[in-house]
Order: sequence, then structure tokens, then C-alpha cells
Amino acid sequence: MELNRRAFCAGMAGVTGLALARPALAAADRLTARKASVQLAPEGYPATEVWSYDGTIPGPLIRVPQGGRVTRQLVNELDEPTSIHWHGIRIDNAMDGVAGLTQEPAAPGETFEYDFAVPDAGTYWYHAHKNSMEQVARGLSGVLIVGEPTPPDVDRDEVLMLDDWLLDPDTGQFAEPFNHPMMMSHGGRSGNLIGANGQYAYTMQAETGERLRLRLINAANARIFGLKLEGMTGWTVALDGMPLDTPEAVTGEIVLAPAQRTDLIVDVTATDSPAALLMSLDGDTWEALVEITITGARAARDTVPSPLPANPNTALPDLSNARSFAMVMEGGAMAGMDSATYGGEQLDFRALIEKGQYWALSGQAGMSDTPFAALKRGEVARIKLSNRTVFPHAMHLHGMHFREVRADGGFGPMRDTILSIPNEPLEIAFTADNPGKWLFHCHMLAHAASGMTAWIDVA
Ligand code: C2O
Ligand code: CU
Repeated sequence: MELNRRAFCAGMAGVTGLALARPALAAADRLTARKASVQLAPEGYPATEVWSYDGTIPGPLIRVPQGGRVTRQLVNELDEPTSIHWHGIRIDNAMDGVAGLTQEPAAPGETFEYDFAVPDAGTYWYHAHKNSMEQVARGLSGVLIVGEPTPPDVDRDEVLMLDDWLLDPDTGQFAEPFNHPMMMSHGGRSGNLIGANGQYAYTMQAETGERLRLRLINAANARIFGLKLEGMTGWTVALDGMPLDTPEAVTGEIVLAPAQRTDLIVDVTATDSPAALLMSLDGDTWEALVEITITGARAARDTVPSPLPANPNTALPDLSNARSFAMVMEGGAMAGMDSATYGGEQLDFRALIEKGQYWALSGQAGMSDTPFAALKRGEVARIKLSNRTVFPHAMHLHGMHFREVRADGGFGPMRDTILSIPNEPLEIAFTADNPGKWLFHCHMLAHAASGMTAWIDVA
């Protein structure tokens, strides 16, 4: 902070003025969206010009105790407007960060104050929610951890934010354009380089017998990670932040769709090289995504981990008076659609494509003035998703977690993002207990930008 000469000369008036001024924010209370140069590609390749929070990929790790508050001033030093969405938090609607729905974005050189309570413990993340298809791909995301009052019995708590980047190998820069028609109409923008915590070939160290909590987060624009553990025995203890009632042993592949999180508790069983590995399926071959080198040994716990403490408001939705909605997902390459409404007009597929719209949700491409569902607070909604496209879609509801309603009437775990597979009917239900305007969209961000974005109003 600068004290200029006039402030000194103004005597008491000046002092009063200073006392009333807003106190300067410590750097820790800010997130500055800005360009930076980061080594995403392996050594020997050029560094990448990224858009970042505070110059790092991922952005600064935010840790806050359950029931606490997150207070951050977004400072926009980019050349275009931006906003931050706090993915998976049951948040006050005004803080949800959706440019054009819950706030005006921060213009270049401007700021926006985020200040909200975090009711649920778990693994969350934050990312840009303006021109997300490009801003998130360029690096605008970070991790938000809400800590349990009593953390589980583990030796270490580690975050693995998985991502992919589409880079030109010669220059190390992001391949452009970000709104490539081929990406929008197919599976979205997938990278040619995968990594964790902003690095290709990320490594960690552990001892044989150590028990680790691994918080897996998929920050990729479109990639569905297929993962498996080697040299570790693991249990899934939470999905999308929300604890499972009973930890589930990891036996096969872990599927992590864009924006989803899986919290694992793992016991390291590998005794020397090869190390313990988090493997990722690339086409038909499994490749090491994260390598955990073994540095020693200690006595292993011989117990199955206890469940994480339950979050508040996790009661099963009462379906007896639920209102039902049908969401039909259409469009894209190899399936297409006859027509959809866009910007208030009914357009055929060809005309939609000319406007950059390849997809529709129940006949609506992109945002409409009216919500997909208008709910009263406390009402229970069930939404049947019919995927009539040939692509999977990671459907994300803002502001509230939902559960899958299974064919036998049972409920799945609470989630905020669920993978919808072509021609596999899927139904979700939730209690609309958080008032506001909430997006419901595909988290393949190229799909969200080209039609698959709807919203739900809770009065
Ligand atoms: Cu993480 Cu609207 O998204
Ligand atoms: Cu999609």
C-alpha cells in the first residue's frame, strides 16, 4: 500500500479517511486470473502459456473447515471477462459464479468478491464459468477441500487433479481454435497429453504399508478417465465430495467423468520397484499416470477404513409427491436431430450448426429465458435422461446433489455429476432445497457451449 504525500499532509482528515478505507486484502484472500508460463509438457518441450489462478496449474489449493467460509476476491488480469464457479458446493446462488445467470462476469481489470459458507465436507473444485470451453482448457481451475471435523485415520491426504492438454508438440502451446466444430460435434476437446497436478508424469513417494487418502478430481474438458490401481489396495470412500455409507473395495476400473471426484483410501502394498501406480486407460493400453515410488516400509493397518462422517441433508428424496421431468439429449455427429429452439427460434439442424449449436436438451439448444424445470423449495424432482446421441455426456447440476433412481427403485449415492451413456436410460432425483437459478449442463465443455446447457429454477 502506498502512502502518498497528500495523505500525510491532510492531517486528521487524512487519517480518518485511511481508517475508513477497506483494509488491503492479503494475497491469500485473492485469486488473480492471469497469464503465466508453466511446464505442462515433459522436460525438453517448450513451456506453455496458460491462463491460471495466481500463476500455477492447478490454481492454489483452498482448504477450509466444514461450516467455515471461503472468501476470495477474483482479480481479473486477463483480456476477457471471467467468473469462478465453485463446483459441487451447496452454495448461496449469488456466489455460484455462472456468468450471465447468477452474476455479471468480472471484466478485464475488474474484481468480484466471493464469500460463501461451505456446509459439506469433501473434495470440490473451482473453475472459470465464462467461455469455460476455452478458459478451463487453458488452465483456469483449482482444488477446494472442505475438511471433516474429524479427519479419517490416514497417514497422508493427497490431491490428484487429473487433466489433459491439447498442445502443439513443436511450440508447446495450446492447439487452437478451442471451438473447433469437430470437437463440439463429437466427444469434445481431448488432450494429447495427460497429467496430474499440472504435470506430465507426476510422481509421489510413499512407504509400503502407508495408508493414503487420494482425492481424484477430473478437471479435463472432455476426457473420461478409466483408472486402476497397481501396488495398492483401495476403497472408495466418497463420490463428488459426498461420503459413501460404506467404503467400497476397488476391484476393477474406476471411471471418472469430467468434473467428477472420487476419494479413495489406499494401502500401499508395493514393496519396491515397480512402484505403486495409478494407471490410466489410453485406447486399449494401460499407462502409468501417477507413479508412487517406495521409500521405506512400515506396519500396515489390517482394517477396512471406516466411513467418512456423513454430511448434513443427505436424506433420501421422498418420491411419493415427486414431479417428473423428461430430458431428451439429442444432436451431435452421427445422430443429429431434426430441429430445436435456439434464441427463441425453431431451427433445423443445418441452421443450428451455422449458429454453432450441435446439441439440444428436450428441444432447446443453449440457454432459454424459461427454466427447464420451475420447482418450489422443498419439492422433489425426478428427471429421466434419455441419451439419443452416440456420445456419453457428464451431466452436472449446480447447487444441489442428486441421486440416481435405479430401475429396482433403490437410490444411488449422492453426486453432482453423472455419466449418461447412449441409449441407457438414467433417472435422477433430488430435493430442491436450495433456492436460486441452477445450471444443469453437460460437463464436456464443448457440448455445454454448443447446446447442452439448461437451467432449473428453485423458488
Ligand atoms: Cu463445473 Cu457449470 O460447472
Ligand atoms: Cu456432452
